[in-house]
Amino acid sequence: MFTGKNIVLGVTGGIAAYKACEVVSRLKKLGAEVDVIMTENATKLVAPLTFETLSCRPVCVDTFSRTESWDVKHISLAQKADLFVVAPATANLMAKLAHGIADDMLSTTLLATKAPILLAPAMNTGMWTATATQENLRTLQNRGVHTVGPASGFLACGDTGAGRMSEPVQIVEEIQRLLTLKADMDGLKVLVTAGPTVERIDPVRYLTNDSSGKMGFAIAQAAIDRGAEVTVLCGNVHISPPSQAKIVRVQSTQDLYDAMMKHCDEQDVIIQAAAPADYRVKEIAPEKIKKQDGAAMVLELVENPDVAKAVGQRKHSGQTLVGFAAETENLLENAERKLTKKNLDLIVANDVSQEGAGFGVDTNIVSLLTKNGLEQLPLMKKQEVAHRILDKVIQLRADN
Ligand code: PMT
Repeated sequence: MFTGKNIVLGVTGGIAAYKACEVVSRLKKLGAEVDVIMTENATKLVAPLTFETLSCRPVCVDTFSRTESWDVKHISLAQKADLFVVAPATANLMAKLAHGIADDMLSTTLLATKAPILLAPAMNTGMWTATATQENLRTLQNRGVHTVGPASGFLACGDTGAGRMSEPVQIVEEIQRLLTLKADMDGLKVLVTAGPTVERIDPVRYLTNDSSGKMGFAIAQAAIDRGAEVTVLCGNVHISPPSQAKIVRVQSTQDLYDAMMKHCDEQDVIIQAAAPADYRVKEIAPEKIKKQDGAAMVLELVENPDVAKAVGQRKHSGQTLVGFAAETENLLENAERKLTKKNLDLIVANDVSQEGAGFGVDTNIVSLLTKNGLEQLPLMKKQEVAHRILDKVIQLRADN
């Protein structure tokens, strides 16, 4: 099943390191080549010889050790990997990867790799739920790092809760899923819009909305994983964009419009998940507006360009256009109207009033509406929603 696949397995110093032996054993039985990199702390829990025996290859621990070959080991392993797995992944390893710290063989190789990364976190519940760990997790996931687990249960430290490393069989299933990800967007140029726009009022104030960019970045990452060349037109977001995408930063809806007009003609697929402001102030005040002794402040707003509509008017044959509809009422009626008005092939109807859907959260609840049908999806992670949208795009392109 994994014949010809090179998997690099990082093992960090958590008690679950002993379970990583079974991961190696299962991968070998399925035909994979496995190279193991251990941290110094991991070697205190499991002897490198165990992994050497199971993987039939030398285990790397020390960045500066002399090896039988002349290649720079951390670079050659980083390049060789079809998939880089870290099991167990401690809070420390996740923090290092999130912040680009490379101070041992494992963190150095991880930072250098372009291969997909899968982490199987394992730690005490308090460490797992700590704000720092959760923020690092979000940063990594937003960059496209995959995770499996952790599960909940009895932990080696005596606590009960989330933090148990997933079982080796589940980790291997996830490895299989990642290694068989479709490459059905190979050679396609995909443009994704993400995040909110910012409409200045004066030098210190602006109008905006709650879009975080998570939905757009999830789509961009999914398209990259499926082989597309991805450009992201990115509003004012505070999370890291996918590292393999071309990022074009925009502030206002007018900026988004200008960037879109520059890039849209060369794209095969355009997916507009951004939340551009529909209005801007007519005149941006050159100085900070002063309070008026209790009098109301009146801002005159004028309509912004409708970027999706403009793209729809320029649509050329072979191009697939996808929009979103963020609604709080009459979801499907409004979405259908936007599908037609903006000349879209697919609209992702998003009832943003539902819990777990829409702005800021990691999940979404959407319906995929085309001229020929409707598919209603349950609550899913934005990463899964992204793949379902791309599945539909591929289907639409095949039908045309
Ligand atoms: O970023 P997240 O926090 O992950 O949140 C995700 C999301 C809620 C922003 C996303 O799922 C979503 O619904 N995006 C669309 C938001 C929106 O602007 O919806 P709309 O119904 O107002 O616009 C319809 C479509 O026209 C959208 O594709 C929008 O990008 C586009 N549009 C809107 C206004 C405008 N002036 N120009 C546009 O092109």
